[in-house]
Amino acid sequence: METTEAVEEEQEIKDPKAAEEILASFPQKKRHLIPILDKIQQSYRYLPPNIMELVMQYLRISRAQLYGVISFYPQFRIVEPGKYILKLCYGTACFVKGAPIIADKIKEVYHIGAGETDAKKLFTLQLASCLGNCGAAPMAIIGDDTHGSIDPEVTQSLLGSYEDKE
Ligand code: FES
Repeated sequence: METTEAVEEEQEIKDPKAAEEILASFPQKKRHLIPILDKIQQSYRYLPPNIMELVMQYLRISRAQLYGVISFYPQFRIVEPGKYILKLCYGTACFVKGAPIIADKIKEVYHIGAGETDAKKLFTLQLASCLGNCGAAPMAIIGDDTHGSIDPEVTQSLLGSYEDKE
C-alpha cells in the first residue's frame, strides 16, 4: 500500500476555494470531520492532500487522526480517480455469470485491477456487491450509466465508446 507521503508527492495542488467555502459552513468541531470529508470528496471527487492540510488546521487535528478516520471508511479516496468510476458487480449472480472473466478483459486491455486507474486516468475499476438487478447479470455501472447482460466483448466496446467521447 502507498504511504500518504508517497501519494502526496505525486499529486497536484488543487484550488482550495471550494474547500474553504465548505469548511466555513461547518463549526470548528472535530465531530464534523466526516460530513466535511464527504462534502470535500463530492466537490473534488477525492481528498486531495493539500486540501487535507486545510482540514487539519481548521479542526486542529493531527495527520494521524485525520488519516485514521479516512482509512477506516472505504468510501473515502486519497488518490484522484479516473474520469469514470467503473463498478463491476461481483455479487453472486454476476460472479456466476462471468464477472471475473470481464474483470480479466479489463485487466488485459486497460491494465487495471480493483481500485486501480488506467494510465489515461479515464477509468477507475471498483468491484461492487450486488447492484440490485441480478436478472440482468452480469451488471456494471460506468459513470452514471448502468449496463446489464454484458460480456467481455460488450464491455470492451462500451469502454471504447467512453474513450471515443474524449
Ligand atoms: S449480483 Fe450483480 S446485480 Fe445482483
